[in-house]
Amino acid sequence: MSHPFRADFPLLVHTDIAFLDSAATSQRPECVIQAEKEYYERYNANPLRGFYDLAQEATARYEGAREKVRAFLNADSAEEIIFTRNTTESINLVAWSWGLSNLKKGDEILITISEHHSNILPWQMVAQRTGAVLRYIFCREDGSYPKEEVEAAFTGKVKLAAAALVSNVLGQEGPVRQMAKLVHLNGGVMLADAAQAAPHMAVDVKALGVDFLAFSGHKMLAPMGIGVLWGRKDLLDSMPPFLRGGEMIDSVRQQDATFAELPHKFEAGTVNGAGAEGLAAAIDYLSRAGFDRIGDIELSLTRRALSGLQAIPHVRVLGGTTAEEHHGILAFLVDGVHPHDVSAILNEDGVAVRAGHHCAQPLHTHLGARSSTRASLYLYNTEEEIDRFLESVSSIRRKMGLG
Ligand code: ALA
Repeated sequence: MSHPFRADFPLLVHTDIAFLDSAATSQRPECVIQAEKEYYERYNANPLRGFYDLAQEATARYEGAREKVRAFLNADSAEEIIFTRNTTESINLVAWSWGLSNLKKGDEILITISEHHSNILPWQMVAQRTGAVLRYIFCREDGSYPKEEVEAAFTGKVKLAAAALVSNVLGQEGPVRQMAKLVHLNGGVMLADAAQAAPHMAVDVKALGVDFLAFSGHKMLAPMGIGVLWGRKDLLDSMPPFLRGGEMIDSVRQQDATFAELPHKFEAGTVNGAGAEGLAAAIDYLSRAGFDRIGDIELSLTRRALSGLQAIPHVRVLGGTTAEEHHGILAFLVDGVHPHDVSAILNEDGVAVRAGHHCAQPLHTHLGARSSTRASLYLYNTEEEIDRFLESVSSIRRKMGLG
């Protein structure tokens, strides 16, 4: 049976690579590549500025993309959608703007040990500058966060909680809903990192009960350089600008300025109009594909890959033992072989994976591993690619002279 999506991805059609690094960045379908190209060919002018027809068209398309993101997240208002470069910038916006204005000595910031560095370092900065304390909730060896341990980690001092919906190393779901409920009891706020969730499952900001949510376009079929911060309108309204400059103002005098309304207050400088166009096309593509169908493909491939890895001697998969716990992400260790060598051997066999700490050093340290090799899947992968990957992994120790 032919694959329902693969032919849409030019890079995969034109190369023979088994691309198993979609957690780092996805491939793009032809319609997204064309949408970005067409923006420059037909609509290009600086959005939000000019009054001539072409600039109005560029603005309308940019705001149309914002509305598409609003619907994608089931947010109340397009004013709550801030375009950024990526998840990292979105989280930094919250840290520099909300964090520095609202946290103080004696407050606590609570995150999980599974976080990507982009959901750790901004909070380290806020803690260092405000005197707030940064604390962690630790997962079990299988990556899970038992409810009673999450609850026990919440003191009355926690004013900001943050967690990934899906870990970029273990693929495990974080305790986002529970943390949101608990931090609200303290009058605090919850940020969800949806970088690894938005490409693979419906993300509904109302159902999650969070206050801020961040994701990147480039992991969900869209171009690099476009990301999103969603925030509750009352919070965003109360926050100072993050970056200052062009188009985020109401009026400017020699010594001070007043700022534009949402969302433009947080979009200083020329925006990424073509990126927004590509993100809108990616959302359309994902909607047509349907998250149920995407989930079925990913789960079936993950089952094949996980059971294959579990059957290879000297291989340890980090995190849970069932495919359902991994959301298409399998980080693993091969006894006696450095992950860089594992990835080099896989590369020789035409398989692309990521090796290292995957921007999650505290999690690796907690799990007793310096680094790992990570295979990550998406809707375009095939059983043949998984089999090529498994065959290559099973040859690694022999190739390294370890028998
Ligand atoms: N955050 C991306 C990853 O996990 C780059 O690989």
